Amino acid sequence: MKFDLLAHDPQSKARAGVLTTDHGTIQTPIFMPVGTAGSVKAVHQREVKDDVQAQIILGNTYHLYLRPGLDTLQKAGGLHKFNGWDRPILTDSGGYQVYSLSNTRKIKEEGVKFRSHIDGSQHLFTPEGVMDIQRVIGADIVMAFDECTPWPCEYEYARKSLDMTHRWLKRCIQRIDETEPLYGYEQQLFPIVQGSTFKDLRVKSAEFIAEQGRAGNAIGGLSVGEPAELMYEMTEICCDILPRDKPRYLMGVGTPANILENIALGVDMFDCVLPTRNARNGMLFTTQGIINIKNKKWEQDFSPIDAELGGYVSTFYSKSYVRHLFHASEYLAGMAASVHNLTFYLWLVRSAREQILAGTFREWKERMVKQLMVRL
Ligand code: GUN
Repeated sequence: MKFDLLAHDPQSKARAGVLTTDHGTIQTPIFMPVGTAGSVKAVHQREVKDDVQAQIILGNTYHLYLRPGLDTLQKAGGLHKFNGWDRPILTDSGGYQVYSLSNTRKIKEEGVKFRSHIDGSQHLFTPEGVMDIQRVIGADIVMAFDECTPWPCEYEYARKSLDMTHRWLKRCIQRIDETEPLYGYEQQLFPIVQGSTFKDLRVKSAEFIAEQGRAGNAIGGLSVGEPAELMYEMTEICCDILPRDKPRYLMGVGTPANILENIALGVDMFDCVLPTRNARNGMLFTTQGIINIKNKKWEQDFSPIDAELGGYVSTFYSKSYVRHLFHASEYLAGMAASVHNLTFYLWLVRSAREQILAGTFREWKERMVKQLMVRL
């Protein structure tokens, strides 16, 4: 895996780069659509590729391990073969989902014991086990097993949790370094900075993560309910410490404004369920602002959803038609809205990249942050 930085914005810490994997290149900054169980919900792979123009998608260790399970994934030849996506994939470690989804969980030094949210069966995730599972899934980028602390969080809890996440990281590194990929292409482990919203813990964690010298690094434990300003403060502390010649991935973020602000602080990679989850509820992101497509206001508005954005959903489907799809509970409602929102998110990061390359990012960002969050 190789990361080449092409440009820095002169008036912010934003960067434009190219990350090269065995499944192709990723132009950064990038947004990665979430395909939790191996599918970007309601969107065909062909649309993810050709319409959304996604360059990398996410999968989740927790979900894929529970269903379809490792036996099926290994027999399929890994997730790329199983779901037919031949571009890069990143898998989250379960270090987030096991806390947010499983029914009961016990966190111990060894790992996390939990019950499946599907059938209540009991499982144990350890740092070593999660690396082995991610070998079987076969993502190009695999995430370390961590604890994502809730917010707010007591200092002592965050400190102890962080120390354990660091000890778990050492175990992840040992396991990944002593095992081989199963399918003949490279897999790289990204460690995750934690430390809640405590500056000293973020500094300590970012320094520890930086020392590990991995191919890329992530920032976790943010966008969990804290005010946006606090998130930006933490991101900046981490980005200033994490190596500048490696990609930086901010996990689970966020709104269009969050993405632009964090790009300005030096983040290169993002993922979030927001564009797809909100799409299924009728919330559309556009270049002019946010639309609740179910509103009566759009009943006979035959203009395109977003003429400026382009793409087939934005151009050929009117607001009136998509509103109708939602009101008639048509499957196509969630499908069209998901393709639209993802197309918008990929447009957003592509535009940010063009502005960085042109040296005009900061000014553009200030304007867009205001424009994109307007409720239409
Ligand atoms: N997704 C969003 N935040 C996090 C985090 O802190 N850790 C992990 N593993 N995944 C996340």
